[in-house]
Amino acid sequence: MALVTTKEMFAKALNDDYAVGAFNVNNMEIIQGIMDAAALENAPLILQVSAGARKYAKPVYLLKLVEAAIEDTGLDLALHLDHGEDFDICKSCVDGGFTSVMIDGSKHPFEENIALTKQVVEYAHDHGVVVEAELGKLAGVEDNIKVDARSATFTDPEEAAEFVEKTGVDSLAIAIGTSHGAYKFKGEPYLDFERLKTIHSLIPDTPLVLHGASTVLKEFVDRCNEYGGEIPGAQGVPEDMIRESTKWGICKVNIDTDLRLAMTAEIRRVLTETPAEFDPRKYLGPGRDAITRMVQHKIKNVLNASNKR
Ligand code: G3H
Ligand code: 13P
Ligand code: ZN
Repeated sequence: MALVTTKEMFAKALNDDYAVGAFNVNNMEIIQGIMDAAALENAPLILQVSAGARKYAKPVYLLKLVEAAIEDTGLDLALHLDHGEDFDICKSCVDGGFTSVMIDGSKHPFEENIALTKQVVEYAHDHGVVVEAELGKLAGVEDNIKVDARSATFTDPEEAAEFVEKTGVDSLAIAIGTSHGAYKFKGEPYLDFERLKTIHSLIPDTPLVLHGASTVLKEFVDRCNEYGGEIPGAQGVPEDMIRESTKWGICKVNIDTDLRLAMTAEIRRVLTETPAEFDPRKYLGPGRDAITRMVQHKIKNVLNASNKR
């Protein structure tokens, strides 16, 4: 039982129709909720930490909590930096015990993204750490009015092949129509599967990563709406689209919004039904259990990753 890189888990996922869930963590209850689900489903697992999570919880707390979770459950997992924006944060995570980092140079011009990614790859590989990079931009819902305008920011397949060759990156996050948060589509959900297939055919040995992959489960949106925290119009990626993407090289599926919704919906319910409650364990505990149920559902029915450990 240890922190491992994603190398072996991606090699297995690439040759099979499933993906490894990469879940964002910010505190103890979220980590415990996810770990319990992965243990119950005997599934491979990536826990990922954003710059915001590091700021909120402090890096050392998150690292120690993850180490404790490994000791407690006996599960191997990868600890990953999500959306590292420069070399320094990636270096800090490599030095601080992470086994995987993302350098997100997607906002930079192509050649700059290559140079930045290469710099991180060289440092990380020297220290036994793997690297995810991003090419193309995830669209916001405001860009969803015209599919044509939106797809202009999607990952270009030829560029993806050149990028992987020139950087030596271990995995690549691509833009095919998903976006971060609870509002992914205004109309019909649309993912560019033809583009995904072309990318996968050009770089068949490169594990691909789908960001913005929360499905925004109706159960939790309804509960938030019912208990006074309305999020009207929330819409996630349909479950069957995530499943489909795992056939075409998607090996890592990023999930944060679904965790936030599951936990918050349950806490809202508890506090609404028992307004005199003020013991944090009485609402954080059910919040943690809601995460376990949601993550189990994902692993089993969306990622197809049960018993793939
Ligand atoms: O892609 C972003 C993740 O959902 C992390 O969000 O920066 O608010 O922690 P955050
Ligand atoms: P969601 O907002 O869809 O959960 O995406 C999370 C993500 O991509 C983290 O990098
Ligand atoms: Zn992301």
